[in-house]
Amino acid sequence: MTLLDAARKVRDNAYAPYSRFKVGAALRTASGAVFSGCNVENAAYPEGTCAEAGAIAAMAAAGEREIAEIAVIADCPEPVPPCGGCRQKIAEFARPEVKVTLATLDGAERVMSVAELLPGAFLPAHLERG
Ligand code: THU
Repeated sequence: MTLLDAARKVRDNAYAPYSRFKVGAALRTASGAVFSGCNVENAAYPEGTCAEAGAIAAMAAAGEREIAEIAVIADCPEPVPPCGGCRQKIAEFARPEVKVTLATLDGAERVMSVAELLPGAFLPAHLERG
């Protein structure tokens, strides 16, 4: 199964009764393991979480820290652009050159790097002094 297939599959489990916009994300780590996540909304709207955040939480819970590749899919007119918060979350665990595949259910795809998604990212290194 490709990463995009995994993202498409987990998207079916998205809980999006408010926006009706289901999103699936799947990532592969440096070890080769695949973790996936879907958006999970909430009646208190700001408490909802994005698909990418779910996949990253599953990865971290398994003790992994290095995203080697990530794919995101939604039923969108054009390949779904991750929100700003998710770009920051991805950048925390992925090198700038890591491939990010954005896709639609209709089969359109756009491939970007993490650096293209979030130029000038604030990263863990910026917390260091001296
Ligand atoms: N959403 C994601 O899960 N990932 C994205 O990259 C864009 C937006 C979700 C959040 C919310 O549940 C719904 O899509 C509509 O914004």
